[in-house]
Amino acid sequence: MRVGLVGAGRIGAFHARTLADHPEVSEIVVTDPMPDRAEEVAAETGADVAADAAAMLDRIDAMVVAAATGVHAEMMHMAAGAGLPVFCEKPIATDLPATDAVVERVRAANVPAQIGFQRRFDAGYRSAKALVDSGQIGHLYSVRTTTHDHEPPPEGYQDTGIYRDTQIHDFDVLRYVTGQEVEEAYADGFTITTAAFGEDRPIDTGVVVLSLTEGTKVIMSGIRHDPLGHDVRMELFGTEDSVAVGLEPRLPLRSLEEGVPGPQEPTPKTFLDRFAPAYRAELAAFIEVAQGRRASPCTPDDARAALRIAIACDVSREQHRPVALKEIT
Ligand SMILES: NC(=O)c1ccc[n+]([C@@H]2O[C@H](COP(=O)([O-])OP(=O)(O)OC[C@H]3O[C@@H](n4cnc5c(N)ncnc54)[C@H](O)[C@@H]3O)[C@@H](O)[C@H]2O)c1
Repeated sequence: MRVGLVGAGRIGAFHARTLADHPEVSEIVVTDPMPDRAEEVAAETGADVAADAAAMLDRIDAMVVAAATGVHAEMMHMAAGAGLPVFCEKPIATDLPATDAVVERVRAANVPAQIGFQRRFDAGYRSAKALVDSGQIGHLYSVRTTTHDHEPPPEGYQDTGIYRDTQIHDFDVLRYVTGQEVEEAYADGFTITTAAFGEDRPIDTGVVVLSLTEGTKVIMSGIRHDPLGHDVRMELFGTEDSVAVGLEPRLPLRSLEEGVPGPQEPTPKTFLDRFAPAYRAELAAFIEVAQGRRASPCTPDDARAALRIAIACDVSREQHRPVALKEIT
């Protein structure tokens, strides 16, 4: 299979290595308006460089979009128009009209499409889902999620705010694990505006309370600067069990209890450290999706559902009130 990779930044370069290692990928074509990035990926993986995405369409069998968020929708339209299976990083777009247009175009073109919510491929989150599905955790009272970056994204990164850019992963995996939908969101937050992190930044510290359809309550913490490392967790508390995803020897959190040691291994510093196997597994799944061997494990409709929750959080924070998801249409 010949795969076109659009975007060779942080996640694009990682996806390129995964594709290069995949036995069923025979050729990679990469493009990025920053030519050094495309050349670097090409040198490392043996990929060809194309001038832009349009220039690769007639020489690929599937497209992987890892470009900055602002071009995702355009690239998905392009792939659908060319009849190509498409994998796209989250989010499809940052508003509902643009997202809906993509959802409809992909459906009309009948091309396989997968969105990059890699936590669905992480072993811990999959175990949590299995526990919930089997009934072993019982009725879920509450869920707590943590997504704390070690450091804010680098300069030049197209940051769309903590809810739409980052906690959107929590929103997606919450739906995946619990099988419930969000009914109401209440959110607050602020922006770190120190000289070290830059002053003109979107909201980067978010707290969220969600109510789910079966009565479960959720509390969520999103932070762009955690001095100890990249901390991503989910804790689930049910009538039969209490479990945690991400409670591991690398966890970047120090206990203050006597005799309890700190992190036992070097902590993850980036999303790539934390989720490398999940990123590889999601692209392996996409190759099968593109070959028609399995259904998409994370559809554009799933991405739309997660975006609605993020939008509800922005409205809630701005208006300082709980927002019913049915308001977000
Ligand atoms: N799933 C995850 O955990 C995860 C993690 C990080 C980033 N992402 C998503 O991946 C995307 C990229 O993030 P990143 O951290 O790699 O950002 P980045 O800024 O490091 O890289 C983005 C790249 O896209 C390129 N680009 C911009 N317009 C383009 C175009 N028209 N064609 C081709 N390339 C283009 C830029 O030049 C840049 O090299 C974002 O949408 C982000 O939301 C997802």
